[in-house]
Amino acid sequence: MFTTAIVQNNPAREIPVDLFAAIQALKQELNAVILAHYYQEPDIQDIADYIGDSLGLAQQAAKTDAEVIVFAGVHFMAETAKILNPNKLVLLPDLAAGCSLADSCPSQEFAAFKAAHPDHLVISYINCTAEIKAMSDIICTSSNAVQIVRQIPLNRPIIFAPDRNLGRYVMQQTGRNMLLWQGSCIVHETFSEKKLVQLKIQHPAAEVLAHPECEPPILRHADYVGSTTALLKFCQKSTASSFIVATEPGIIHQMRKEASHKNFIPAPPMNNNCNCNECPYMRLNTLEKLYLAMKNRSPEIKLSEEIVTAALKPLQRMLAMSVK
Ligand code: 13P
Ligand code: SF4
Repeated sequence: MFTTAIVQNNPAREIPVDLFAAIQALKQELNAVILAHYYQEPDIQDIADYIGDSLGLAQQAAKTDAEVIVFAGVHFMAETAKILNPNKLVLLPDLAAGCSLADSCPSQEFAAFKAAHPDHLVISYINCTAEIKAMSDIICTSSNAVQIVRQIPLNRPIIFAPDRNLGRYVMQQTGRNMLLWQGSCIVHETFSEKKLVQLKIQHPAAEVLAHPECEPPILRHADYVGSTTALLKFCQKSTASSFIVATEPGIIHQMRKEASHKNFIPAPPMNNNCNCNECPYMRLNTLEKLYLAMKNRSPEIKLSEEIVTAALKPLQRMLAMSVK
């Protein structure tokens, strides 16, 4: 419980001793809500008002009546919150918290790709920049991508960007052919099939849970594939008592909280000498930076009116198409 909340008093950076209490006080003062992704460090998850996957976070951002949104996640997620709330202050503890997947789809190259296929509907995974969203017809997340593609008339060709692994997975699930942008996530392509198989031999009763951003050889070994929220729900309901988790291991904090009697084993990366299965961007946010962002009302997400207007439409389509 909140063990790392007590930090050294540091007058130069004006960091209070009890960061948890200081953040709670700032939350009241600012009328702020703290939204956090499951890949954030445990302390940030523990202080958040809402923890979720990208869809849940977008839905929360769309309905919050807080005046300030403190987004503990990566840049594209905070941008989404800003697009949905252009008149609110949206804070991101570290502006350098980007995303390799979003970076793999530069806007100029994507504009040319789109122009070369003018008859195609553009469905973009939410892990992309606001500029790519503004060029898209519909946004999706890992939890609704299959559901959204199934709602598109069969005679309509589709461009799916930027994640080729999620795109390939959606093609398998829907039987639809789609033109895939060849982007990928550095975290989800790091898992080793060989080591996963070795782990399965050591833990024969364990179920393998994988995020659809993983490469096909990992997904082939999965007992269940889904978004972070779906993986969390699955391990709560499953009768298995042990799970190998092939996604960013930050989610294991919630898994252990919600199913404390079960065993969760992070899927290993190819390289033994790195923490490559941890997202280096997500992990840039710290409790200290979150406090400073709230105290200084900065760094904030800023977007042009033109981008907000264009990117809002495909996001609203996604929210409407996600309703059960
Ligand atoms: P979800 O939040 O949709 O599970 O996606 C995980 C992810 O990679 C976020 O960057
Ligand atoms: Fe981007 Fe991958 Fe990190 Fe998710 S885990 S934020 S897709 S780099």
